[in-house]
Amino acid sequence: MSALDTIVVKGGTPLSGTVSTGGAKNAALPLLFATLLADGEYCFRNVPRLRDIDSTALLLEHLGTGIEWDGDALRVHAAECDHQDAPYDIVRKMRASILCLGPLLARYGRARVSLPGGCAIGSRPINLHIEAFEQMGADVVIENGYVVARAERLRGARLVFEDATVGGTENVMLAATLARGTTVIENAAKEPEIIDLADCLVKMGARIDGAGSSVITIEGVDQLRPCDHRVIPDRIEAGTLLIAGAITGGDVRVNHCIPGHIDALTQRMAECGFRIDTGSDWVRVLPCDGWRAHDISTAPYPGFPTDLQAQYMALMTLADGTAVITERIFENRFMHVQELVRMGANITPKTQVAIVRGRPGVLNGAQVMATDLRASASLVLAGLAAKGETIVSRIYHLDRGYERLEQKLQRLGARTERRPGEPQAA
Ligand code: EPU
Repeated sequence: MSALDTIVVKGGTPLSGTVSTGGAKNAALPLLFATLLADGEYCFRNVPRLRDIDSTALLLEHLGTGIEWDGDALRVHAAECDHQDAPYDIVRKMRASILCLGPLLARYGRARVSLPGGCAIGSRPINLHIEAFEQMGADVVIENGYVVARAERLRGARLVFEDATVGGTENVMLAATLARGTTVIENAAKEPEIIDLADCLVKMGARIDGAGSSVITIEGVDQLRPCDHRVIPDRIEAGTLLIAGAITGGDVRVNHCIPGHIDALTQRMAECGFRIDTGSDWVRVLPCDGWRAHDISTAPYPGFPTDLQAQYMALMTLADGTAVITERIFENRFMHVQELVRMGANITPKTQVAIVRGRPGVLNGAQVMATDLRASASLVLAGLAAKGETIVSRIYHLDRGYERLEQKLQRLGARTERRPGEPQAA
């Protein structure tokens, strides 16, 4: 796979069949950083093979950890770090690298982690992480582009997040496991990935209560131990595949997922007129000739996920009626709008709101450019339903979070193909 690969989609085929989701990227990343808390052998199963996982492995290796793939399992040999520095070159590739700050600080009393810098979907500051560590007794300064944090031993504190933050909640949970005393996080993020992290930390010997609710209590312990853990299925991949079926008027069953994790999407799709069947670990969308537009507003879990906003917007371009899509989590997550417009969609973007005037059959193929991970997915989905050929370039964004999406779609009958290199300008 090259950074310049493109995906070519020939639209117009209703997808049909069964496909499985892999492990959740956003669950696997914090789990891997948890290995900085205790030395020894870990085995994580159901880990997706993605660029973000590779970036995490690179950072952990830089910190002295051994990493080895064994099928879909990732074996981690954690050893004591002889330094606690996370350099810019690795952190800039993946913002979630900031999750090494909490574990390093808690365990070694020191961490020096590059600030991640700008991002395509919003400014994404880490002020809430830093304020929380300061309240736990750390001395934090920004020096030469790095966050430098020190604390002899973190102490438990009562923390109230001003805004729910997934990464902030994870970083504090990781750190609080080894702090002296009890930490209470109020207005904690409630995402399924938080529960998965808590489950793994508890196996490691941590004392955590309330994960999945808005108040999480962590009683610090002196030492943790390694464990084996299976990563939860990726709810965003499941939702993306379900929309792929829906947007082509197809019949697609998505296996190995947790239907409750995508309730916000399936409920909204049902309101649009799709018939959705669910079992204990699968979701199926049935063929549908036409669907109605419905508004969405993104929100923290269990609200409509920002990570499915772009894909849902692609679906709404072909709906009957107008959908108002409000993005409340990130301030700049409409970069896919102008690319969808190049494919014939009628969308008016305003600040944080996009008005999508849907019309069945409106999309036609074009050469489009991906700007971030979920935007890339929405362009591939639009291509599946467009007349003619769509060429999506800068697919390295897609590869950060989807494991060979084009191959999964091919198995459902899609005419998708990965081509090496950028398309030549005409
Ligand atoms: N925020 C602050 N200050 C902070 C932290 C967050 O202002 O210190 C703001 C952010 O700028 C944003 C909002 O709070 O506006 C929510 O950010 P959050 O911290 O919840 O997001 P994150 O941890 O950076 C994770 C996922 C994202 C997902 C968001 C929201 C991972 C690795 N990333 O990001 O996933 O969109 O939660 O659910 O878990 C993706 O997979 O495509 C992706 C972007």
